[in-house]
Amino acid sequence: MIRPHEIALPSQPHVRRAMPTDIGAIVAIEKVSFPDPWDQNVFLEAMTYYPTTYFVATCDGAVAGFVVGALEDTGENIYGHICNLAVLPRFRHHGIGRMLVTRAEHQFAIELATAVQLEVRVSNTAAQKFYHRMGYQNVFGIDSYYANGEDAFVMMKWFRF
Ligand SMILES: CC(C)(COP(=O)(O)OP(=O)(O)OC[C@H]1O[C@@H](n2cnc3c(N)ncnc32)[C@H](O)[C@@H]1OP(=O)(O)O)[C@@H](O)C(=O)NCCC(=O)NCCS
Repeated sequence: MIRPHEIALPSQPHVRRAMPTDIGAIVAIEKVSFPDPWDQNVFLEAMTYYPTTYFVATCDGAVAGFVVGALEDTGENIYGHICNLAVLPRFRHHGIGRMLVTRAEHQFAIELATAVQLEVRVSNTAAQKFYHRMGYQNVFGIDSYYANGEDAFVMMKWFRF
């Protein structure tokens, strides 16, 4: 059987800031990626609140993945937060997830964040492995974080300046 990463991408993926016209494609990727997808309004609202840290990856002009990042200022520290990340199944394992997270991290650093935080389902071992490879560590768990009662791991990466 041929696995997705063995099929060459049609062209080199490219990361750019998300635009309102991307929302339809983002919602479609979300629906095939998560059991409890965000709806369109949440994606649109996030674009208003976090325009600088919200990116899509395109391949041959089509949206192949997205990352919704946010900045949180506690007064003492500024943290980046990866709120949502997904890549269309047929585009996975070609480095697009890494490109999206790396771009969001660069923007977080530009905006003076000292660390990045995210939540991931305890059952989502593929994503946990992906984030571990990108330098994230499990820091603690949150009971019943998700709507279906599933627990989350909080993972963090600290920037070294
Ligand atoms: C997590 C997710 C975003 C990763 O996206 P991706 O584009 O597949 O990520 P990458 O290709 O950068 O890296 C994934 C893997 O592909 C491997 N890879 C990257 N380029 C590759 C290539 N050219 N050939 C083979 N493997 C490759 C990486 O080493 C990595 O390996 P791993 O899975 O064993 O850790 C994607 O799996 C996804 O959308 N999952 C569903 C949604 C989800 O769980 N989101 C996170 C919620 S917190």
